[in-house]
Amino acid sequence: MTNNLQGKVALVTGASSGIGAATAIALGRAGASVVVAARRVDRLAALERELTAAGVEALAVELDVTDEAACRAAVTRTVEAFGGLDVLVNNAGVMLLGDVEGADTTDWTRMVSTNLLGVMFLTHAALPHLLDRRGAVVQVSSTAGRVARAGTAVYSATKFGLNAFSESLRQEVATRGVRVVVVEPGVVATELRDHITDPAAKAAAEQRADSVRQLAAEDVANAVRYAVEQPAHVAVSEIMVRPVEQSW
Ligand SMILES: NC(=O)c1ccc[n+]([C@@H]2O[C@H](COP(=O)([O-])OP(=O)(O)OC[C@H]3O[C@@H](n4cnc5c(N)ncnc54)[C@H](OP(=O)(O)O)[C@@H]3O)[C@@H](O)[C@H]2O)c1
Repeated sequence: MTNNLQGKVALVTGASSGIGAATAIALGRAGASVVVAARRVDRLAALERELTAAGVEALAVELDVTDEAACRAAVTRTVEAFGGLDVLVNNAGVMLLGDVEGADTTDWTRMVSTNLLGVMFLTHAALPHLLDRRGAVVQVSSTAGRVARAGTAVYSATKFGLNAFSESLRQEVATRGVRVVVVEPGVVATELRDHITDPAAKAAAEQRADSVRQLAAEDVANAVRYAVEQPAHVAVSEIMVRPVEQSW
């Protein structure tokens, strides 16, 4: 076990499952103190216990990232608990795929509020602390943030938007030592597809996912860890990681 992140403090959103939970464990193993945030507090409490049992300083914080005040409060609790914030991992997200025609537009509101506005609120709240500690913000985007396809319009719009926000932020803060990292996974075996409300879009997404050997959440967590473990002068700005058979 290396401890390159000893003395560092990480806040991981969407840590109740999938990539977020795996990332919290990976950063904890690397020596960081970890705040795990999401809405499902029972899962967070279990993860907090698991981390603590492994010797990691951990704190579970209930957070709905669509609530700006809650985002600010989560950052404040992190700083109060562990004395600062070095790594913000904006991972919480929803992927409610489907055609534009006939879509349930409440899906759109959920995606924009969670994947885009939530990231913006948290980044805004965390930025003074990240500037203070020359920290890093990791944005879990997607290959869908680089390539749009029929049926991914709004999900892709949120991830393209996230990439644009992140590149602009990178230029804004680069000279002050803050690293902005965009991680773009391809298909990962998580609960993400379970929440798709359009039955045809869900079936198509499952079929596409089953056509490749999907990444594990830990594969993406390793990419996040790689980026934030680099020496302070090295900025890994973007990592795209796909299953080897994923041709799209
Ligand atoms: N799986 C893939 O194939 C894939 C590919 C590319 C990118 N990604 C991205 O990876 C990220 C993580 O997804 P995953 O694959 O790990 O799926 P997941 O297991 O469904 O995890 C999503 C996480 O986001 C949280 N979340 C959702 N809405 C939230 C809200 N309003 N406030 C706070 N937390 C919220 C969920 O927790 P609660 O429900 O407990 O709040 C959950 O912990 C997402 O941004 C997704 O777009 C995934």
